[in-house]
Formats: sequence, C-alpha cells, structure tokens
Amino acid sequence: MAILPILKFPDPVLKEPARKVQRFSSELSARVDDLLETMRAMPGGVGIAAPQVGWTERVVIADVSQHKKGSRQENHGLLVLVNPEVLAMGGSQIIREGCMSVPDYTANVRRAQWVLVDALDRNGEQVIIESTGFEAVVLQHEMDHLDGLLFLDRVTSLKTDLFRRKGCV
Ligand code: NI
Repeated sequence: MAILPILKFPDPVLKEPARKVQRFSSELSARVDDLLETMRAMPGGVGIAAPQVGWTERVVIADVSQHKKGSRQENHGLLVLVNPEVLAMGGSQIIREGCMSVPDYTANVRRAQWVLVDALDRNGEQVIIESTGFEAVVLQHEMDHLDGLLFLDRVTSLKTDLFRRKGCV
C-alpha cells in the first residue's frame, strides 16, 4: 500500500473524463488499496476519486462513517465503486464542500438530497446503493471527478458561496 500524491487544481488531468474500468484483477485491487490509504491519510477525508491521483479510470471511494457530518446519519460505511452511474436522484440540499484537490477553498454547493447509484465493486460484482444526506453529497462530488468536474464548477456564485479556508493567507 502507498500514499499517493494528490493532483491539485488547476492540473489539467482533473478536467479529463475518466475511462471505464475494463479488467478486474489483483492489480486493480492493489490500486484501490492505495487510493483508500491515500484518502485515509487525509484528516477528515470522506471520499476520493481515482483521477485525483492521476489514475484516469472510473473508481471512487467514500466512507462518511467516521465523520461528524456523516456518522449520525444513515450510511453504508466504506464504499468502493467502480464505473458508478446515477440511476435516479431527487430533492435538494446545500452543504459546505471541500476537496483534497482544491485545498485552499470550501464552498456551499447545491446537490441532490438522494441518489440511486449502480456500480461494480472491486471484484466486478454489481452493487446498487441508495444514499441520502451527507453520504449522497460525497458520492455526487466524487462521481463528478470522473467527468472532469470539481465542486468549483457547481458553485452558483463564486462571490457569495466560495470561502477561503481558515489559516490560509
Ligand atoms: Ni474532490
């Protein structure tokens, strides 16, 4: 396992749509483990997408179970989703988001309140996830990375909804 360097905005790789995973192998599983270790190395890390470490395939990881915003709500614990697709979504919520690839800012972003996601696990088995609340936001945020989108692209007003992180100049 290894902690991988995170690509930071405006790295052009973050704007690239990621390719579907075609082969389920021990190599894939090892890369998933590295991605997981990289997410867990970040304090408060609740999600990561493969393109953030320069791996431009459709893999996301989420785990809100240890986070103050996620642990009190219904959640699925650790999710490793390969080739995820949103089957349905609904409702609306606004939550303050951050991203390891945009370390100096947070923003209020409007997202769906719930999502129904069809994906494969690291062994290629189908998983269907219905998610609400904070976990649903994390899934939407991470799946955006697979389409080359950052939370900055979802902010309605950069003037009123974007915030510099405390402690930064
Ligand atoms: Ni992110």
